[in-house]
Amino acid sequence: MEMIISGKATLIGEVEVSSSKNAILPILAASLLTDEKVEVSKVPIIKDVIIISKLIEELGVRVELNKNCLSFQGKLISTQPPYELVRQIRASFLVMGPILARKGKVRVALPGGCAIGTRPIDLHLKGFQALGADISLNSGDVVAKASQLIGAHIYLDYPSVGATENIIMAASMASGTSYIENAALEPEIVDLANFINSMGGKVTGAGTNVIKIKGVKDLHGVSYTPIPDRIEAGTYMVAVAATGGDAIIKNIVPEHLKAITAKLIESGAEITEGKDYLRVKRESRIKPVYIKTLPYPGFPTDMQAQFMSYLSLSLGTSVISESVFENRFMHVQELSRMGADIKIEGKTAIIRGVKKLTGANIKATDLRAGAALVIAGLTAQGETVLLNSEHVDRGYENIAPKLNAMGASIKVI
Ligand code: UD1
Repeated sequence: MEMIISGKATLIGEVEVSSSKNAILPILAASLLTDEKVEVSKVPIIKDVIIISKLIEELGVRVELNKNCLSFQGKLISTQPPYELVRQIRASFLVMGPILARKGKVRVALPGGCAIGTRPIDLHLKGFQALGADISLNSGDVVAKASQLIGAHIYLDYPSVGATENIIMAASMASGTSYIENAALEPEIVDLANFINSMGGKVTGAGTNVIKIKGVKDLHGVSYTPIPDRIEAGTYMVAVAATGGDAIIKNIVPEHLKAITAKLIESGAEITEGKDYLRVKRESRIKPVYIKTLPYPGFPTDMQAQFMSYLSLSLGTSVISESVFENRFMHVQELSRMGADIKIEGKTAIIRGVKKLTGANIKATDLRAGAALVIAGLTAQGETVLLNSEHVDRGYENIAPKLNAMGASIKVI
């Protein structure tokens, strides 16, 4: 797929944010903790959600989609999700915790997903091991076995989002109480805990760095609406600021966007906060800023690329330091083709602001890099052709129509 993006857009109006992809993926995995009916509302129909739903269906569960509501019901039969689906999305590894908890064994191929560094899964496995699972590697598959998981104290060397989620799910049906120390603090962790608790689970402390999980014997069906997508919201905020626009971003939790809001204000954008919306406006020139990506509540790595497009047009030199992932600067080469002046030194990008970007034929290499290039295309002079734009669809529902409704002109082919 490709997107043809007309440059020199000014985004004006409003846009509504969908539910969070990164909250939904673990929630859908956690639906495997019960055979009863689980309904998840306001689900964005994006590629990652479709893949994980298919994967759950392959495990024996009946999956139905009615408008934007996904429902899951039925017996978890298989303990081995098919490789064909697992390799397409890293988050498929999240089914490991719930399957292990329910069936006492699971076999999953090492995960795929965005090519942003080596992305090991050692912390997930250390967590399962601490809960009493026996872990082995067999022809590229990870095999975990435990007749009964047993509550334990787990210290994470790094507050990994996925490992925290996987361990919460596994521990939620273990015998006894578990503690995850140095747990990730992301809002998506809190949402997963709320989801499990609404199924009858006993998870406390989510959103702090010590999470307590009291194992229960059974979890029951539930209807649930996940939190809004803070990265989708942030992407539109930056798009509006980058184009010198004025728009309202609706259906958000302002608290989840603090780091993004702070950096936009520092760069000269004006932001007004409502209860569940934000207004973003920029009239003055973009001021350079320093950004270091960090686990929540620090600046999110998933917003790094979008800010780089924006800061390419700043009046002065910005510095972005990527501390969460290796190899997450793949958008730099493409931005340079549009006239950006960016130098990479290890995990740091030095961005010298230029007066304008110019439309070019460029390529999306991963989801957020793709979103960044859409923003660059909107600000550029002339037309940009974004190849491999299907990467963007992995995480953004209707991105072209949503931007077009604010005055952009993007054609998807
Ligand atoms: C999640 C998000 C992703 C986001 C990332 C960081 C989902 C579906 N994806 O990914 O969009 O960019 O959080 O905010 O929610 N690590 C290890 N060992 C492990 C696990 C992780 O060393 O076992 C390292 C990773 O290589 C990486 C860092 O920890 O350098 C952060 O990864 P993690 O927080 O686990 O990210 P994900 O859960 O994969």
